[in-house]
Amino acid sequence: MQYGPDPNAIYPNEGMKSICYIKNVVARRNIVIGDYSYYDDVNGAENFEDHVTHHYEFLGDKLVIGKFCAIAKGIEFEMNGANHRMRSVTTYPFNIMGHGWEKATPTLADLSLKGDTVIGNDVWIGQNVTVMPGVHIGDGAIIAANSVVVKDIPPYHIAGGNPCKTIKKRFDDELIEYLLSIKWWDWPAQKIFDNLENICSGDLKKIKKIK
Ligand SMILES: CC(C)(COP(=O)(O)OP(=O)(O)OC[C@H]1O[C@@H](n2cnc3c(N)ncnc32)[C@H](O)[C@@H]1OP(=O)(O)O)[C@@H](O)C(=O)NCCC(=O)NCCS
Repeated sequence: MQYGPDPNAIYPNEGMKSICYIKNVVARRNIVIGDYSYYDDVNGAENFEDHVTHHYEFLGDKLVIGKFCAIAKGIEFEMNGANHRMRSVTTYPFNIMGHGWEKATPTLADLSLKGDTVIGNDVWIGQNVTVMPGVHIGDGAIIAANSVVVKDIPPYHIAGGNPCKTIKKRFDDELIEYLLSIKWWDWPAQKIFDNLENICSGDLKKIKKIK
């Protein structure tokens, strides 16, 4: 018996090709995606990689996205290569134009590198969101439409705006701690299947009884 869609399929639902499992369409080694995380875009969800910009292997930064994330159309993950040198008189990138100007190639120390971008599990990102380099978004967070995420967002917080700030917590601290401890997204497919009603319930007492 199959317990839900095949996490190794490109389209979890063949009748809805605007949604694809990102893990199965990404070729770049510096993008790491967990099972069941999807990108939804009627203009070509398979082109998710085009939304991860300025991402150069020599800079070493990774985009890491956990399991069961829902990412709406218009996402832009700006990676570390997006930032020009800023401590110099000019920010103009002479070196990339060549013709001798490459003598002004910045060193890695000249750039303000911010490390990996890490999106947790069960994160819902609304449409037209931009995530800046080095940001960490915690498990269970919701990012409102049209936000620009410039700082870390804690788990199970709803955040929005430009710059993206916490709007509210989704649950009380006790339940957040509980959800972070059970990590339902790591359960085997059958256990998720068996507990689907509880996971999809807003009845927090019921959720606390999940085994
Ligand atoms: C974030 C979101 C889930 C909040 O939903 P909600 O709790 O029903 O929101 P409300 O309308 O009650 O607003 C709650 C607060 O969030 C603020 N807010 C809502 N959307 C916001 C946004 N996009 N940017 C900034 N702030 C936002 C509201 O102004 C309000 O602030 P206040 O408490 O100071 O008055 C929703 O607004 C949203 O952006 N959903 C994403 C939809 C989407 O893009 N879907 C794509 C397909 S999956």
